[in-house]
Amino acid sequence: MSREKVSYYDKNWQEYDDWYDTHQAIYQSEIKALERVIPSGRGLEIGIGTGRFSFHFSVRFGLDPSFNMLKLAMERNIKVVQGFGEILPFKNESFHFISIVFTIELIADPLCFLKEAVRALKKNGTLILGIIDRNSLWGKFYKQKSAQSKFYTGFHFFSPEEILEIYQNINVEFKEAYQTLYQPPPNIIDLEEPKRGFGQGGFVVFKGIKKE
Ligand SMILES: C[S@@+](CC[C@H](N)C(=O)[O-])C[C@H]1O[C@@H](n2cnc3c(N)ncnc32)[C@H](O)[C@@H]1O
Repeated sequence: MSREKVSYYDKNWQEYDDWYDTHQAIYQSEIKALERVIPSGRGLEIGIGTGRFSFHFSVRFGLDPSFNMLKLAMERNIKVVQGFGEILPFKNESFHFISIVFTIELIADPLCFLKEAVRALKKNGTLILGIIDRNSLWGKFYKQKSAQSKFYTGFHFFSPEEILEIYQNINVEFKEAYQTLYQPPPNIIDLEEPKRGFGQGGFVVFKGIKKE
């Protein structure tokens, strides 16, 4: 866990959140992709930030180390806890689903981080990961951007194949993925419908089920 990265989000929470208002087609297309995989039940987002995505869904709980990001999530009626995903303050098998969106990229040890998430998932619970596909145009765009924008400093971008391999190593069975963002970066004009699978869109959401 990097306190330096977190403090950047903590200082620039407003700029982070405002970005979604000025990039509505991206934001709404990503919401449509997440809609396909987020189930009902007691749900937690780890690295919830300002709650931009979760407040659209049935996600009622959020965890993040940044107090200022969480303040806005709280205003969006999400029950928040300040903390790190590496050491979740929840008992085993507490949630029906856990989502992690645009966060795994900045975690020093993603495997340990995800194992901790799986610990807090009920058996047959759903793990959702939202990433920028490293191999897509968007992945290449954000990799370049990570040299200039502190929001993305130190980001490690994943390929879909790597996520599938990680799922195998954390006792989660991959079920399906949806993708969006086919128009090229830096912005899109038209709202997009998600397509099943990966390999074409810049943003990919993965759904997996915790095995018995
Ligand atoms: C790029 S933002 C994504 C926020 C939100 N998921 C979204 O999609 O808008 C990454 C978030 O991860 C949080 N974060 C950083 N390190 C973390 C850690 N070790 N555990 C949990 N969250 C962390 C940051 O504070 C920040 O709010």
